[in-house]
Amino acid sequence: MSTKAPVGAFDSGVGGLSVLADIRRLMPDETLLYVADSGFAPYGERSVAYIEHRSGAIADFLVGAGAKALVVACNTATAAIAPVLRGRFSLPIIAIEPAVKPAASASRSGVIGVLATERTLLSERFAGLVSAHASGVEVVSEPCPDLVELVERGITSGPEALATVERHVRVLRERRADTIVLGCTHFHFLRAVVEAVVGKDVRVLDPGQPVAEELRRRLANASLLSEDPRTTPDRIWTSGDPAAANAVIGRLWPWPHELAPLPAAYCLPPGE
Ligand code: DGL
Repeated sequence: MSTKAPVGAFDSGVGGLSVLADIRRLMPDETLLYVADSGFAPYGERSVAYIEHRSGAIADFLVGAGAKALVVACNTATAAIAPVLRGRFSLPIIAIEPAVKPAASASRSGVIGVLATERTLLSERFAGLVSAHASGVEVVSEPCPDLVELVERGITSGPEALATVERHVRVLRERRADTIVLGCTHFHFLRAVVEAVVGKDVRVLDPGQPVAEELRRRLANASLLSEDPRTTPDRIWTSGDPAAANAVIGRLWPWPHELAPLPAAYCLPPGE
């Protein structure tokens, strides 16, 4: 595998672009490929089999496109299928998960809040994270499917975003959480709204940066870090409506990129 090969990343939709932005800032010379599975989003209330089917198809596509490493930029997919992907591919696979450990160590009130999808919060992986790293604190979990839907529509500020965030965050404030984990990559794009609602005394954690650092470490260990300045634009594919994706991705991804529909062979729903 060449150091010039691209890094591939994916999410159920546009949320993982938040992780990709941290990768772009940390490693400006890497060429990035990204699949937004917006035609099949949200994953948050789907079965493990559904998420496994979609993530497997996208991983095949990215590996076929020459990716030297894969970033699972979706907490829900990590919780459901990261070990399956690691069993199937031999390239470095970096997966994101909610920042429960740093939140538990940072909390002074002894209560942390986690905003994530229902699938993530019900997963064994999440239960394992809590029992390994947060057994001494109270963890208040709040599933927020409507926040995913807002970001997929490109709504990241304004009255609708504020009202929806307020509704989800209210319970965390009532329980006196002083640290809130954004446990879904879509929520990064609502971070400013969450911070405005919770105020300065509540810390908001978002794990994109540690994922980017882990990717850099893994590429360096495998002697795969790009050695030359990047010359090609990033490439993004969507399984959703291309016109809608163009408008939303144009706002969320400010770097030069080419956007194309994900080829039909990789857009088959589970069971076909
Ligand atoms: N962005 C995804 C995550 O990090 C999930 C959104 C969805 O429900 O599809 O969990």
